[in-house]
Amino acid sequence: MSETPALRLRGLKKTYDNKVEALKGIDLDVEPGDFFALLGPNGAGKSTLIGVVSSLVNASAGEVSVFGIDLLRQRSLAMRQIGLVPQEINFNMFEKPFDICVNYAGFYGVPRPEAEQRAEHELRAAHLWDKARVMSRTLSGGMKRRLMIARAMMTRPRLLILDEPTAGVDIEIRRGMWKTLREVNARGTTVILTTHYLEEAENLCRNLAIIDHGRIIEQGPMKQLLAKLDVEGFLLDIDGTLPAGLPRVEGAKLEAVDEHSIDLEMPRDMDLNRIFAALGEAGIRVRSMRTKTNRLEELFVRLTGPADAAAGQTEGARAS
Ligand SMILES: Nc1ncnc2c1ncn2[C@@H]1O[C@H](COP(=O)(O)OP(=O)(O)O)[C@@H](O)[C@H]1O
Ligand SMILES: [Mg+2]
Repeated sequence: MSETPALRLRGLKKTYDNKVEALKGIDLDVEPGDFFALLGPNGAGKSTLIGVVSSLVNASAGEVSVFGIDLLRQRSLAMRQIGLVPQEINFNMFEKPFDICVNYAGFYGVPRPEAEQRAEHELRAAHLWDKARVMSRTLSGGMKRRLMIARAMMTRPRLLILDEPTAGVDIEIRRGMWKTLREVNARGTTVILTTHYLEEAENLCRNLAIIDHGRIIEQGPMKQLLAKLDVEGFLLDIDGTLPAGLPRVEGAKLEAVDEHSIDLEMPRDMDLNRIFAALGEAGIRVRSMRTKTNRLEELFVRLTGPADAAAGQTEGARAS
């Protein structure tokens, strides 16, 4: 039997009052100890998913469990397993980091002496101990974000969830957060983050799911996904009729689609001439060819494309 997942979603759906179907039936398992990314463009449904898991948004249908605890039936117990870092910085800028952490734990019923000990521990872990007693508004952008992580860790969550923790921040701040998050994960906390940066998912996570238009279109180990992107697909139209057997080319996959066309998949760095030579030898003449793009590839182009394209899309989605 496999381990109880840190997060398990089944058939999760969310339709907002304005009829927007933000989640269209999500199935997801995140293993304990994992560093998991939910990658998707703006408007994909990432925040809605995080909102449902952290009880800020009511699901329309489906099941959520956190370390085997059903979110609907045992909401407060399930919630106690989770630490949430929302996208926007939302602590009081006129409080000191130490007090922000202690008060937060107090809100969750942690006795004061214990909370003070934890605050020191978490602020040290976030490399903020020397700033524990300064006014928070004087912290740099990167420090503020690390304080958000330290605060979320005050309740000793088994699962830390972050919604686009580095959206719109510069690369140095992003790297600092990555370091802190890796350390949190190394201490045994399961981490799930949403991001629309392919680079971030690539750098941080072991496993990921790709979400687009409210559906998971791909999930698995990061390495496996990258390998998929290394493959290029083509459709070849043939002069005349195909012979019974197609030639073999090592490393490439050739399949007849019908009598007049071939589906070709090959590594990106392979020379197309090798394919044409093999086909030529078999008496097959290629009349024309088209690139075959898959959804994953299209999505990755959007994720790695110009920032305004993605931003414009959000605005369109939000206005509807
Ligand atoms: N409170 C809301 N009311 C109505 N529609 C919403 C609300 N929040 C999000 N949406 C819509 O749901 C879809 C998914 O949004 P969201 O979960 O914020 O995506 P992401 O976080 O991936 O950018 C979008 O089309 C968005 O406009
Ligand atoms: Mg979002």
